[in-house]
Amino acid sequence: MKLTLRIWRQEGPAAPGRLVDYEVDAISPDYSFLETLDVLNERLIERGERPVAFDHDCREGICGSCGMMVDGVAHGPWRRTTVCQLHMRQYRDGATILLEPWRAKAFPVIRDLVVDRNAFDRIIQAGGYISVGTGSAPEANLMPVPKPVADAAFDAAACIGCGACVAQCPNGAAQLFTAAKISHLGLLPQGQPERDRRAVAMIETMEAEGFGYCSNFRECEAVCPKGISIDWIARMNRDYLRAKVRGVEGE
Ligand code: SF4
Ligand code: FES
Repeated sequence: MKLTLRIWRQEGPAAPGRLVDYEVDAISPDYSFLETLDVLNERLIERGERPVAFDHDCREGICGSCGMMVDGVAHGPWRRTTVCQLHMRQYRDGATILLEPWRAKAFPVIRDLVVDRNAFDRIIQAGGYISVGTGSAPEANLMPVPKPVADAAFDAAACIGCGACVAQCPNGAAQLFTAAKISHLGLLPQGQPERDRRAVAMIETMEAEGFGYCSNFRECEAVCPKGISIDWIARMNRDYLRAKVRGVEGE
C-alpha cells in the first residue's frame, strides 16, 4: 500500500505546530498503525530528519499509552479499537490519513503526537485507591462480593486511562474517565469506607485540572476503546451529591 500521512509536527510545548505530508509506500495491509509510523520513522532517520514522536507501550490495547486523533476521531474510526490495534487493511490504497495529537486544554502537547496526561494521574492520586493495612493476604472468602457487583466493577475497571474521551469531547471533559475510576472502587465492599471522600476529592481535582464540564454529548462513550458507558457518570454524580449533602470534604 501507498499512503499519505498528514501529521501534526510540533517541536515542543511552546513551539508553533503545522501539518506535514509524508508519503510512505510498501506498507503491508497487515501492519498496525503504529508499525506504519515505525516504518515512516526509520525512513526519516535514514534521511537525517527527526522522527515523529508518538506514545506507545503494550501495542495490544491494554495499557492506554497510545492515542491520537485519526481523521478527527480519537483512536480512529473503528469502534472499541485503540490506535495500536488499528490495522492498515481498514484503509484503501492511496488514502490520505490525518494524524493529530489529543486536543484538550488539560492535555498540553509535548511534541508532535505526544501530550502530557499527568492530569489523569493527579485525579487518581486524589482518591483512586483504597487504604488497607498491609500484611499477609486476607482469606479469599472473608469479604464475599456478589457476582453482579463484581461484574459491574470489572466493567468500570476496564478503563485504560487513554484520554480518548477527553480528546473527543467538545468540552474537553474528563467525566467518563473519572466516573469509571470512582465507580469501580465505589461498587466493591473494600471501597466503601472512602467512597464519599473519594468522589469529592477526585471530582474537585478533575475540575481544578482544567477539564470541561459534561453536557451529555456522549462523544466520549462513542470513542472509548473499552466501551465505558456514560451510565457511570450518572452514578458518579449521585455519589458526589450524596457526599456533599453529608458535608464531606475532599481533603
Ligand atoms: S473512559 Fe475510555 S476513553 Fe476514557 S480514558 Fe478510560 S478507556 Fe480511555
Ligand atoms: S500501546 Fe498500549 S493500548 Fe495502545
